[in-house]
Amino acid sequence: MKIACIGAGYVGGPTMAMMALKCPEIEVVVVDINEERIKAWNSDKLPIYEPGLFEVVKECRGRNLFFSTDTKKHVGEADIVFVSVNTPTKTHGIGAGRAADLTYWEGAARMIASVSTSSKIVVEKSTVPVKTAEAIGKVLKRNCSDPNVNFEILSNPEFLAEGTAMEDLRHPDRVLIGGSETESGRKAVETLASVYAHWIPKERILTANLWSAELAKLTANAFLAQRISSINAISALCEATGADVQQVAHAIGTDTRIGNKFLNASVGFGGSCFQKDILNLCYVCESVGLKEVAEYWFQVVSMNDYQKQRFVERVISAMFNTVSQKKIAIYGFAFKKDTGDTRETPAIDVCKGLIRDGARCCIFDPEVTPEQIFRDLSAPKFEWDRPNYSRSQSHMLENVQVVSDAAQAADGAHAICVLTEWDQFKTLDFKTMYEKMTKPAFIFDGRNILDHAKLREIGFIVYALGKPLDPFLVKGY
Ligand code: UDX
Ligand code: UDX
Repeated sequence: MKIACIGAGYVGGPTMAMMALKCPEIEVVVVDINEERIKAWNSDKLPIYEPGLFEVVKECRGRNLFFSTDTKKHVGEADIVFVSVNTPTKTHGIGAGRAADLTYWEGAARMIASVSTSSKIVVEKSTVPVKTAEAIGKVLKRNCSDPNVNFEILSNPEFLAEGTAMEDLRHPDRVLIGGSETESGRKAVETLASVYAHWIPKERILTANLWSAELAKLTANAFLAQRISSINAISALCEATGADVQQVAHAIGTDTRIGNKFLNASVGFGGSCFQKDILNLCYVCESVGLKEVAEYWFQVVSMNDYQKQRFVERVISAMFNTVSQKKIAIYGFAFKKDTGDTRETPAIDVCKGLIRDGARCCIFDPEVTPEQIFRDLSAPKFEWDRPNYSRSQSHMLENVQVVSDAAQAADGAHAICVLTEWDQFKTLDFKTMYEKMTKPAFIFDGRNILDHAKLREIGFIVYALGKPLDPFLVKGY
């Protein structure tokens, strides 16, 4: 059996690496239009940072795992083709700002059809709107010149989270495979299930109809994001009342019906999926006339925007209502720890918000490159999720500095904002940093990872998200 995967990104790369590791007799080839990316996958410096990924790639690469730009050859030869290309939010036209742009997906389908001389199972790995499989099926059928070639489309959404991708792939809670309810559809589901059965217990391989599988992915992300927006909404109320959001989260999390995961209040959720998938869910609801349902889910995104804005306002109001020309150290730019990924990271909106008010941001993140930060802070909304988005320069960048050391970022700064929960921030020498900062020295902990009592002892004015406010912040100055 031969498997090809179109799209060597955060999803395609790790997923195929695990598949190659667990199925040594299957040839797995990951293809991408981006030559640089493929070159990186074939080097010792992989294009994405994911704990444990390099070890797996090293073991399988050249054995039964290959990375190539020769899309036509490998897709043409494959029995199963995974499609894991970008599905950005549309930036213009009907549904702009909400609907998914399926240009890349459709392009992939046309290409598959044009190179196919044998029947294939085509698997949706990218998150797509509900009923995409139907459209893709039509494209495949009408564009293949060989009448003997048959395409079976499956939806097999990926649930891995970045930073823990390899563990999630090795021991997933479940694998979901949706297929059409025909005999050939069921057979295709079985074929894909037999690949996963190499390492995943049968009871964890769930099957469903196509539309349920597509919708389950959007729903899973909407529910996860909703939990964060819910606890973030409560964090604002905690600050206003003197309650402590971590105590509230702990108290509700012990109710087994609620559960204790995904209840960390934060400066906002980021990542390539949550916002995009919810907007997409809203758009699907609107298209079928369910306005109230769309509005309900849209609130999850609005609350997230509010949380980021609220953080910026806190920083500015605490610092005497002006951050003009003040140096602010930003600790962490990635959307969560243990990844170098910055897609939709709350740090983008927070930095832009501070810079708009005149601040100078000095950013340190252990995994994100300066080029990436500059690109993010100059890219228009939603443009990032395109293989070759154009880079526009902006005045934003004049007030951005990226450094490779936390202490350097704090040197002479008026404030430190913690925006990503990197473990290494917990053990920084804040006492020495305090001495080199402008006074009063502020710390705004957007992830609640620092020892706030100790920081106050050193002399910092501390704002901790959803925690009783420092008297200095309540009374102003
Ligand atoms: C992608 C989608 O963005 C997301 O919507 C979906 O849920 C899972 O797949 P991810 O792997 O994180 O997520 O994206 P990214 O890292 O951007 O990878 C996509 C890759 O596809 C890129 O390397 C891009 O160059 C490639 N691509 C895109 C193609 O090879 N062909 C195309 O036509 C378009
Ligand atoms: C998410 C889903 O978890 C995964 O199943 C899906 O396949 C893709 O989207 P990912 O975006 O990689 O994965 O990371 P996740 O761990 O879900 O975190 C998303 C964002 O929520 C991050 O910005 C994170 O910091 C934030 N978050 C998470 C919180 O603010 N509080 C929490 O309690 C948990």
